[in-house]
Amino acid sequence: MNKLTLSEALKEHSRTTHDAVDHLVMSMQPFANHDNYRKFLQTQFEFHSTVNPIYHNEKLAAQFEGLAELSRLERVKSDMKDLQVTAYGKDVEVPSYTDDEAIGWLYCVEGSNVGAAILYKEAGKIDLNDDFGAAHLAAHPDGRMPHWRSVKAKIDALPINDEQRQAAMKGADDAFAYFKRVVRKVYGVAE
Ligand code: HEM
Repeated sequence: MNKLTLSEALKEHSRTTHDAVDHLVMSMQPFANHDNYRKFLQTQFEFHSTVNPIYHNEKLAAQFEGLAELSRLERVKSDMKDLQVTAYGKDVEVPSYTDDEAIGWLYCVEGSNVGAAILYKEAGKIDLNDDFGAAHLAAHPDGRMPHWRSVKAKIDALPINDEQRQAAMKGADDAFAYFKRVVRKVYGVAE
């Protein structure tokens, strides 16, 4: 059997944890009203702030064309401004990751844009869209799936060995686990 590409392996590795995150987020009813969505924005702000240094990592950027432009932090901030949300700001955790683990974190945050198709639709029901409040969930101008395919191709082109690949898997685990912790903190629910 052929070895999976890195992005395929990350997908395989993360499937269960992804679905747990998906269920956790949806159980918070983030699209029930603007206040619940404000908490979602606070969660996204913390997550996108944590991953932001990855987009400016020089080593990774040298191997990944257009990396810096992928960051959605500014969009999250503009959505927060629209809805007059400030950062949650309490008990802020600053996770660390190695350069190799960062690849798994990057996979996690970039892939989250795929599922965002569903979230964007839900946001539309409470009158949020690309122009107001939900810019960070909007599709990339190239189209959501073509864009994701191009990101995956760049992830798969990274020159990494088996050990680094394992580190990337760990990075994805850490990223999903961290997202869960932030959701629970911001929405005030116990483990
Ligand atoms: C909150 C509700 C969420 C829903 C409903 C959702 C739903 C989805 C769906 C339908 C896909 C496409 C699956 C496929 O093509 O096989 C997807 C992909 C993905 N989602 Fe989510 N997602 C959610 C949250 C998240 C979050 C919070 C993260 C990360 C923190 C995330 C990370 C990913 C990743 C990495 C992929 C790419 C999988 C791949 O093709 O490799 N998702 N999501």
